[in-house]
Amino acid sequence: MNRETISEKVKSVRFWWHSIHLGQGITTPGHKSVLQLEQELGQMRLPDLKGKSVLDIGAWDGFYSFECERRGAAKVVALDHYAWSFDTAPMVRYLNECRDKGILPGPYEQVPGMWRPDELPGKRGFDTAHEILQSRVEPVVHDFMTIDLDRLGAFDVVLYLGVLYHMQNPFEALKRVARVTKDLAIIETEAVVVPGFENHALFEFYETNELNSDASNWWVPNQKGVVGMCRAAGFRQAELKTPPPAEPSHPQPSPPTLLSERSTPCTLKREPVHYRAVVHAWK
Ligand SMILES: C[S@@+](CC[C@H](N)C(=O)[O-])C[C@H]1O[C@@H](n2cnc3c(N)ncnc32)[C@H](O)[C@@H]1O
Repeated sequence: MNRETISEKVKSVRFWWHSIHLGQGITTPGHKSVLQLEQELGQMRLPDLKGKSVLDIGAWDGFYSFECERRGAAKVVALDHYAWSFDTAPMVRYLNECRDKGILPGPYEQVPGMWRPDELPGKRGFDTAHEILQSRVEPVVHDFMTIDLDRLGAFDVVLYLGVLYHMQNPFEALKRVARVTKDLAIIETEAVVVPGFENHALFEFYETNELNSDASNWWVPNQKGVVGMCRAAGFRQAELKTPPPAEPSHPQPSPPTLLSERSTPCTLKREPVHYRAVVHAWK
């Protein structure tokens, strides 16, 4: 394929989530920049993938699937359905409308014209990169929460990147991830530190779009919550690879210390601090 054809194909995709190098100096204009993806990839600490089977759950444009293929994985399956089913243009219109009217956005799949699982408008990026890279990555269009796991099979390495906090039932989701993992699952997620509560296993719940203005976010764990839930879900061992921030990442006023009437010291709690966590979970 010549450079001009590649460039036209890339331009014909209305929205790119990932910046993917396609050769001949062309990179897709992803919402996630090249730099961001390089940093994320470093934090993932992918094992040696030569000859391994990999399942990428929530693959979207497929950056991680194609990277695993490039690193010598024998078989890579890219599974998604949600981002592949919706069209971003009506979604942006809808979100702007909600903002202008001062109303909270509802579930995206109920927005007229946006949810088109029969046409998969959001899969055009994956398909385009797949074609240009002449990739052998196998796409599977399905909801991971309902797909028949016996038919899907088990994989040496499972990637579950940026998906956990979108789940209404994260425990059930991790149990399903454990079922399809033979050796290692890499779970990347939004995470929270609630200062003073580090020894409690917590998940913060979002009723609508409080987290990043995104109504598809539901639960965000702290370190103890995500590691403990991985073990309870069927992994033998789980370890956080990205330590939580020791101090709040943005300056905060130091909290005043209160003395109650009985003179029991009690400190006003600080605000929760968010970060991205990478967990390695072994079967
Ligand atoms: C924040 S994006 C992350 C994309 C990619 N893994 C990354 O890290 O850049 C979340 C992805 O999870 C997918 N997803 C959400 N729920 C899913 C489900 N039940 N089954 C399969 N994919 C799902 C979405 O469609 C979307 O592609």
